[in-house]
Amino acid sequence: MRRTVIAVGALMFGVGAVMAQQEIAVQQDNLMRGQAKSLYNVILKMVKGEIPYDQKAVDAAIADLEVSVPKIPTTFATNPKQDVVNSTYGASQKVWKNKADFDSKVPPVVKAIADVKGNIKDAASLKIAYDSIQDKCADCHETYRVKLK
Ligand code: HEC
Repeated sequence: MRRTVIAVGALMFGVGAVMAQQEIAVQQDNLMRGQAKSLYNVILKMVKGEIPYDQKAVDAAIADLEVSVPKIPTTFATNPKQDVVNSTYGASQKVWKNKADFDSKVPPVVKAIADVKGNIKDAASLKIAYDSIQDKCADCHETYRVKLK
């Protein structure tokens, strides 16, 4: 009887650990998806002319990125050792082997955002801003993001 209780306890602990890890992976993925929303769903769509230029939406997207991007090093502090269920992209194990190098990819994005902030006033300047930010996001993805499907 006692053995059963211990076994059930261990099993529940195991399930809890797995869920916590999935939660960490989801938090990391959500941070990225939020940044993608600002950069791709708002800024890129305006650059492509899929939605009309909207200064307020541009400023809000830049402000969101400004807050979100510096959170990357702490959000990716723990290796969840699993990918988000059904996700297209996952984090490479290299993130946790070379965490200092991974973290060093963040300040260039922060700088790119600071450099364009306040200088975007039309579709042409928005395109310049998009290219310079996107370039720095990609600089991390090249090494640390893996395509799962
Ligand atoms: C320091 C590294 C780093 C930087 C900088 C970075 N990312 Fe990521 N990104 C990752 C990693 C690692 C993943 C894969 C794990 C995940 O999705 O959580 C990822 C995943 C993504 C995904 C795929 C999400 C999914 O699962 O569908 C998108 C979209 C994305 N990033 C957008 C951005 C944008 C936009 C920027 C720049 C504003 C950016 N990222 C900056 C590391 C980075």
